Amino acid sequence: MADVNIGIVGAGIIGLTHIETIRRTPGFRLSGIVDPGPRTPEIAAAQQVPLFENVEAMIALGNVDGVIVATPNELHVPVSTTLIEAGIPVLLEKPIANTVEEALQLLAVADRTGIPLLVGHHRRHNPIIRAAKKAISEGSIGRLVTASVICTLYKGDDYFGAAWRVQPGVGGPLLINLIHEIDLMHHFFGDVASVSAASSNAMRGLAVEDTAAAILQFENGGIASLAVSDTAVGPWAWDLSAGENTERFPAHPVQSHFLSGTEGGLSLPDLAHWSHAGEKSWNHELRRKILPLAAEDPYGAQIRHFGAVIAGKESPLVSGLEATKNLATIDAIRKAAESGCVTPVRSFAKDQPAGREASS
Ligand SMILES: NC(=O)c1ccc[n+]([C@@H]2O[C@H](COP(=O)([O-])OP(=O)(O)OC[C@H]3O[C@@H](n4cnc5c(N)ncnc54)[C@H](O)[C@@H]3O)[C@@H](O)[C@H]2O)c1
Repeated sequence: MADVNIGIVGAGIIGLTHIETIRRTPGFRLSGIVDPGPRTPEIAAAQQVPLFENVEAMIALGNVDGVIVATPNELHVPVSTTLIEAGIPVLLEKPIANTVEEALQLLAVADRTGIPLLVGHHRRHNPIIRAAKKAISEGSIGRLVTASVICTLYKGDDYFGAAWRVQPGVGGPLLINLIHEIDLMHHFFGDVASVSAASSNAMRGLAVEDTAAAILQFENGGIASLAVSDTAVGPWAWDLSAGENTERFPAHPVQSHFLSGTEGGLSLPDLAHWSHAGEKSWNHELRRKILPLAAEDPYGAQIRHFGAVIAGKESPLVSGLEATKNLATIDAIRKAAESGCVTPVRSFAKDQPAGREASS
């Protein structure tokens, strides 16, 4: 069978991860790059692929089956719209857009054209998350009651050299990092009803937050607390413990997610399952077992899924609508942090067509 030809728009930090993933995934071929950055000619030469001036030029050559969009956030919607209008399936990095309104415009284009849009909340492809979701869905911790999530990632000063990362409404750890946690919470609990939050830029003094905490209340009655900081040192973060991208991050033997249900508890990424052997009471010791896991690189699983989406064999695992819900939750967190008030999360119709707002 012929290789699936993938173009990359944006060959920065995560774009390079995608390029490396394509290189080592059988059946996939990098067919070209769009990126005006100064280092890109060298990258394109090393990969022996054409470097295009813009997306239109890549489309015109007609040798892409699908494109990964890994540009700064503010370009996600215009670039993806151009590709989808040209009939090319897109794997778009998170967040789907800068604003919910823009996200809805993109969903409308995907809806009208019928061209698939997959959003890069790559953790959903991680077998650890798949195993956790299966355990929760099968009731092995009972009804999910609460979760605590920690995400402390100290980022070196060079990280903040890219202007978009410190631009309000575009960068900051809420949109860059916490949105992955929001996606997981949606995946485990369902839709978020309302949020409370606090944020601060006191440590770095940048125009975007460096630290934030949020409490999510879910429509099913569950509650989760989440803390994120890009200026606090600590290994307690999925990125620094799950071993997902060891070319970029060390993998420390600690946990970052703690999920508790009416019948048991589950920590991640170690997949430790805790439950009582006999009577369920805080007076009795809990037993620990590790859920089985067949390790797999989530970026590799994601690109294979994208290939199946391009071939029309699978529907996007992370749809534009789900990614829009993640963004709407981040929006509510920002508003709650500014106002100090419990803030409702904008809701959307549960069924497709994607992006239609709920009437109530
Ligand atoms: N899924 C993940 O794990 C993950 C991790 C990191 C970043 N991201 C997301 O990926 C996106 C990129 O993040 P990054 O950290 O790689 O950023 P980055 O700044 O390192 O890279 C962005 C690249 O886009 C290029 N670019 C700028 N304008 C362009 C244009 N008009 N056309 C094509 N390319 C253009 C830049 O030259 C740069 O090389 C962001 O949306 C970010 O939120 C996702």
